[in-house]
Amino acid sequence: MTGHIPRPQASTETDSNTPMATSWITRPETAADLAQIREANLAAFPTSHEADLVEALRADRQAWIPSLSWVTEAPDGSIAGFALLTRCHVDGSAALTLGPCAVRPEHQRRGAGSAAIRAALDAAREQGENLVLVLGHADYYPRFGFTPASGHSIRPPFDVEDKYMMALVLDPAVPVPSGTIRYPAAFGV
Ligand SMILES: CC(C)(COP(=O)(O)OP(=O)(O)OC[C@H]1O[C@@H](n2cnc3c(N)ncnc32)[C@H](O)[C@@H]1OP(=O)(O)O)[C@@H](O)C(=O)NCCC(=O)NCCS
Repeated sequence: MTGHIPRPQASTETDSNTPMATSWITRPETAADLAQIREANLAAFPTSHEADLVEALRADRQAWIPSLSWVTEAPDGSIAGFALLTRCHVDGSAALTLGPCAVRPEHQRRGAGSAAIRAALDAAREQGENLVLVLGHADYYPRFGFTPASGHSIRPPFDVEDKYMMALVLDPAVPVPSGTIRYPAAFGV
């Protein structure tokens, strides 16, 4: 990891659903955020699975990269959104996996999720990371540049429809590994 020191940044994501545009603040998580991050995941998902997964990943020193857990602050300073990158591997090569990503329901579809995801990806790029993988909505993640991982001969260790397993190369000048994704143990796959 490099000496990158992430700083809060005003995002260009704006709320297009309301007359007053929201300019989101994104920043890496701090120790003071952990309860609100759990609450955001509990609120965004039907079960506690993702909230528990975040905590299991945070406890895994091989998977957790503190500077790559990002939050979006609502105007009142509370946490509206969350995006997480953790260490995974493609065969023997280091990569990152994106998720969970969560936005509190009252803030969804106003750019809070995109802001956290873009900030996390930018931080990863600045730290010299090159490959990010995501299993998720095939109509959401392509806006960040993700394309089907199969195009790089990267496959997950489970059966899933091709379009849901996506990859993003952060530096086109760096060779992309191919092979099978090895997730942190907390994912249970
Ligand atoms: C998915 C999620 C992180 C997106 O964050 P967000 O702040 O709501 O979304 P943004 O405002 O950044 O982006 C809005 C876009 O996301 C799309 N979007 C939001 N939720 C979506 C979903 N469940 N499936 C597909 N697209 C979705 C919207 O259609 C919208 O697309 P458009 O710009 O073409 O209209 C957030 O809605 C959420 O937490 N959802 C519930 C949990 C979840 O599904 N997490 C992702 C899996 S790890």
